[in-house]
Amino acid sequence: MLRVTSFVHQFIKITFTQASTLLDLTLGNGNDALFCLQRGHRVIGLDIQTLAIERSEARCHDYPKHVFHQIDHALLDTVIHEQLDGVSMNNGYLPNGNEHITTSLSSSLIALEKSIMLMRPLAYLIVTLYRKQAGGLHEAEGIETYLSQNKKLRFDQSYTYTNDDLAPLVLIFQKVDEGS
Ligand SMILES: C[S@@+](CC[C@H](N)C(=O)[O-])C[C@H]1O[C@@H](n2cnc3c(N)ncnc32)[C@H](O)[C@@H]1O
Repeated sequence: MLRVTSFVHQFIKITFTQASTLLDLTLGNGNDALFCLQRGHRVIGLDIQTLAIERSEARCHDYPKHVFHQIDHALLDTVIHEQLDGVSMNNGYLPNGNEHITTSLSSSLIALEKSIMLMRPLAYLIVTLYRKQAGGLHEAEGIETYLSQNKKLRFDQSYTYTNDDLAPLVLIFQKVDEGS
């Protein structure tokens, strides 16, 4: 069975072009950012932790089309003022880092709301949720409810593992084109 990260990477591979600008709301170790940069996308990345920014910068330094900011993603509108072709949020804590510094429902919802405002019509939002982590189920349920009720979005697809209600979950939404 395909891992959720591989599913997300497959989706990115078939969806975006070299001209795409993608926002990674949770840089972490920079794996997703590196994948996007290697495909020629421009990447804006955010993380609240110094360690995550340092690891991501080290991993991505060969690819100039990136800018990373150490900031709470709920404050993204203080550093990003451009339209986005895609947004990804991979929630939880930094692998091989402090497990107590983790995404929270309140800041995730603010970050998602602000990201959706910056997304172009037909841009994609990709959210990966880890329901077994501490607080993860509460966060996942809150985010899924918020996204599914958001009139600016259309549900595109989801991916999870069978026979496990708490398995990691990927949700993909597309921004509606209000002009069409
Ligand atoms: C699961 S990791 C992301 C993994 C990453 N996508 C990768 O490819 O390595 C989640 C990250 O979210 C970050 N994070 C938690 N709360 C945050 C917040 N409020 N704003 C920005 N980043 C946050 C953590 O520091 C952690 O690095």
